[in-house]
Amino acid sequence: MPEKYDFLVIGSGGAGLSFALRVARFGSVAIITKKDSAESNTNYAQGGLASVIDGQDRFEDHINDTIIAGAGLCDPAIVEMVVRDGPLVVRELLDWGATFSTKDGRLDLGREGGHSRNRIVHAADRTGKEIEETLLSAIDRHPNIHVFEHHFALELITEHHLGRKVTRYDDDIHCYGAYIFDTRSDKVEVLLAKATLIATGGLGEVYLHSTNPSIATGDGIAMAYRAKARVANMEFMQFHPTTLNIPEASSFLISEAVRGKGGILRDRNGRAFMADYDSRAELAPRDIVARSIDDQLKKSGDKTVYLDVTHIDSEVLSENFPHIMETCRSFGIDITREWIPVVPAAHYLCGGVLTDRDGRTSIHGLFCAGEAACTGLHGANRLASNSLLEAMVFSKRAAEKSVAYIRGREWTTGVPEWDDSGTVNAEEAILIHHNKQELQQVMWNYVGIVRSDHRLARAFRRTHLLFEETEEFYQRTRVSVELCELRNLIANAYIIIRSAMNRKESRGLHYTTDYPRQTEQARRNTII
Ligand code: FAD
Ligand code: SIN
Repeated sequence: MPEKYDFLVIGSGGAGLSFALRVARFGSVAIITKKDSAESNTNYAQGGLASVIDGQDRFEDHINDTIIAGAGLCDPAIVEMVVRDGPLVVRELLDWGATFSTKDGRLDLGREGGHSRNRIVHAADRTGKEIEETLLSAIDRHPNIHVFEHHFALELITEHHLGRKVTRYDDDIHCYGAYIFDTRSDKVEVLLAKATLIATGGLGEVYLHSTNPSIATGDGIAMAYRAKARVANMEFMQFHPTTLNIPEASSFLISEAVRGKGGILRDRNGRAFMADYDSRAELAPRDIVARSIDDQLKKSGDKTVYLDVTHIDSEVLSENFPHIMETCRSFGIDITREWIPVVPAAHYLCGGVLTDRDGRTSIHGLFCAGEAACTGLHGANRLASNSLLEAMVFSKRAAEKSVAYIRGREWTTGVPEWDDSGTVNAEEAILIHHNKQELQQVMWNYVGIVRSDHRLARAFRRTHLLFEETEEFYQRTRVSVELCELRNLIANAYIIIRSAMNRKESRGLHYTTDYPRQTEQARRNTII
């Protein structure tokens, strides 16, 4: 791998790939991705991308829906900017070659919880796969972009590696690239870049049950945190209300669009319970639906609730949800005749590396876009299908600013090689697995949909023990992906717990029994 690029992109999901395509006219681009290039949260997105497309819809309505969902913490200027850019990024995706579902010659627009209108652009129920494949094939044809699969970003390179002490809230830190672990050759390389984008996605793996693929370990957020970037709003973890509840299905998502088409949530006796909780019933924002299901399960002692679509025309189901139908069928459930057993699972992180309106972080030369970023769009709760939109809009803005940033800039010099003098201890490798399982269980039990001071304190103590044990192990062991991911998961868990402890109210996705109400004044962002 050559060691110098103008732009370093860490992550090959929607945010990273679209950023790369936009900057490639202005310099050389390396995309680093830890598995195969398509493996990302983007690839699994089902519902779609929210945008005002229909002449009956209005920007004001999408803005309003987003702000209502965000429970007083959205940045209104950011919301307006993103919503107004929606049609532009949809146009751009179409120009790159994406094919979305149409009806009567127009884009077919789906409906999801919290939206006052149909405005979800989608490719049946595999929107993310369509976007990912489109971007990857455009990248394949681009001579300036080099994709390095099975390369794992370990740490960002800053003044710290050049011998200067950096402290948190230091405003004069620069990013010069990253240490990259080639998992096939087992070597760590220094990759220098004039501008670096973190596009490493979310961290569903922090929790025992999650809709995310296993790559979602929050590496970018943990790296940025260690490099002393500001990280915000990590207490706002979104739990998706409906994932398939059979052990073999490992939290397969049943899209909110299914409720948008009329799916009804029922208890074991067939009672539709959502109207007890919210007048919008199945189409209430997903934090409300997830909490309602949690309450049903706690009250009844049942292990599952059900999503009933048997009353919906089977042609409508097969046209809109072929992937969901097929997957359920492969597990022995015919959704045209049987209810689907569902439970909530961790799904989306609203917080992340704090950025300004152009994707700039608090470290110079370091940009962030997509799920790893906290941009001000989502506030305390993300509106469905606003994240693909956010990823596209912020990668565009970050691209413009990073092109300006690299002008006239040279690569830094004097970066030391990675010190990998530890010795591998195969016997202890099993500890990594055990510690990860323990962390996931602690986060699921004590930092989940419903929290309390007592549960958070308990989670903090246990996570601290795991942190100490893992750090000690890290210091004397050769680098491995599993160990680095575990370190990153623990760092993220720690930030989530601390942020949750700091918020003495219930707001949006953060619900605690000790402070069940919102404080009157919207409490500002939690910055760690
Ligand atoms: P990702 O797409 O997750 O990409 C992250 C990339 O970073 C991956 O390539 C990963 O391998 C790489 N990476 C991570 N760490 C490292 C490292 N250390 N070194 C190198 N590479 C690394 N949102 C919507 O708006 N609409 C939807 O319908 C929707 N449905 C969803 C359904 C599911 C099942 C899931 C899981 C999410 C869904 N979301 C949806 C959320 C949305 O898909 C994500 O928020 C969005 O795709 C994130 O894009 P991203 O580019 O930021 O990250
Ligand atoms: C879904 O299809 O329900 C997921 C949509 C989202 O997470 O935005």
